[in-house]
Amino acid sequence: MPEGGWHPASWHTRPAAHQPPWPDPVARAEVLAQLAALPPLVFAGEARRLTRALGAVAAGKAFLLQAGDCAESFDDFSADSIRDKLKVILQMAVVLTYGSGVPVVKVGRIAGQFAKPRSSATELIGEIELPVFRGHIINDDTPTPSARVPDPRRMLAAYHQSASTLNLLRAFTKGGFADLAQVHLWNLEFLATSAEGRRFEAIAEEIDRALRFMNACGVDLSVDSPIHQVDLFTSHEALLLEYEEALTRRDSLTGGWYDCSAHLLWIGERTREIDGAHVEFAAGIGNPVEVKLGPTATPDEAIALCERLNADRAPGRLTFVTRMGVDKVRSALPPLVRAVSAAGHPVAWVCDPMHGNTFASESGHKTRHFDDVLGEIQGFFAVHKAEASWPGGVHIELTGDDVTECLGGIEGILEAQLPLRYTTTCDPRLNARQSTDLAFRVAELLRG
Ligand code: PEP
Ligand code: CO
Repeated sequence: MPEGGWHPASWHTRPAAHQPPWPDPVARAEVLAQLAALPPLVFAGEARRLTRALGAVAAGKAFLLQAGDCAESFDDFSADSIRDKLKVILQMAVVLTYGSGVPVVKVGRIAGQFAKPRSSATELIGEIELPVFRGHIINDDTPTPSARVPDPRRMLAAYHQSASTLNLLRAFTKGGFADLAQVHLWNLEFLATSAEGRRFEAIAEEIDRALRFMNACGVDLSVDSPIHQVDLFTSHEALLLEYEEALTRRDSLTGGWYDCSAHLLWIGERTREIDGAHVEFAAGIGNPVEVKLGPTATPDEAIALCERLNADRAPGRLTFVTRMGVDKVRSALPPLVRAVSAAGHPVAWVCDPMHGNTFASESGHKTRHFDDVLGEIQGFFAVHKAEASWPGGVHIELTGDDVTECLGGIEGILEAQLPLRYTTTCDPRLNARQSTDLAFRVAELLRG
């Protein structure tokens, strides 16, 4: 590597926002050395496969469904919760594919989504000021001073939880559970009797009938057929840069560097400064990358990010995830789309309708309204239609659990119901009914 060129530690020379103040530098150094010696979680070839799939999204030939928790939790970690999250994602993907005829690229916010950017270093709990919760890879959410002390050993726990999660996801997606012939099994029990559940069941029946028809016509649906497996890729915010650096490895096939903690990494709204450490790190890894763009992002910033992160203009390498808020999407998004199109950069555009629509309820719960989430997606589609650009996907915070964290939806969750089942460690997530309902609405937008 030439002096001054990119290497996994070159971000050290740049200002790095949102890094934790580890109190124990010796323990931190030991953990990082251990992480650097542990096996990669994903392979470079898989990341390249995702880049190709996202290239199809950028070209208007596929749609991205990226979904999962705001923050994965060390406490809520079980085979059942992973399976149920996967069920919702598979179910949404089937609704989208069947409803629109467009292939759906599936990416989870999963198996590594542990670090959170926070607007303030401390928070007030009652009368006491505590260090803020930064995600389970850094500290614990229990509101006591000792729980909030950053502990570097948590990076090892996050690595191991990611490895187990990924192992289970690989087994589920390649071992028969995600077989299209099993489509009925993805309807979660509490969903099955609801209107969305019945609507999904009707699609499942039609898929069954289509498979029987193809079989009768002699189409080969034996074990090698792609209908028996799905690709589910992993992603998380590349926020905690020393963790990402420790998992960045040279690919033996191409000689390039890949961050092997996940297939796709994104840079958040708070860390996308062009000269900052996060952009420097992302610039050198071979993985596909995303950058979140909020309502203050300018066309110049978007172009600078394109030049810096995808100078070669490789389709699928760079995706912009816009999170404008329902009130701003129709005015803030067009200048960005226009500038990037005019510059000829092949980015995929994806809508995160969650992070621009968060507010606190009277009870103090962070929440979002289903109508705002849907409204931002509708605005996103309208802008792309007007700009002759492809609305390439959605980025959703959801869970397979029957939570009451977001308002509205078919069940019409009210503010008073939020405390009933509010279990997120960070932002509010759509529950399975709201997610499936949303998928039907997005499929209609794609068709229209
Ligand atoms: C997130 O995706 O959880 C997040 C913090 O998003 P943003 O960077 O868009 O605020
Ligand atoms: Co979030």
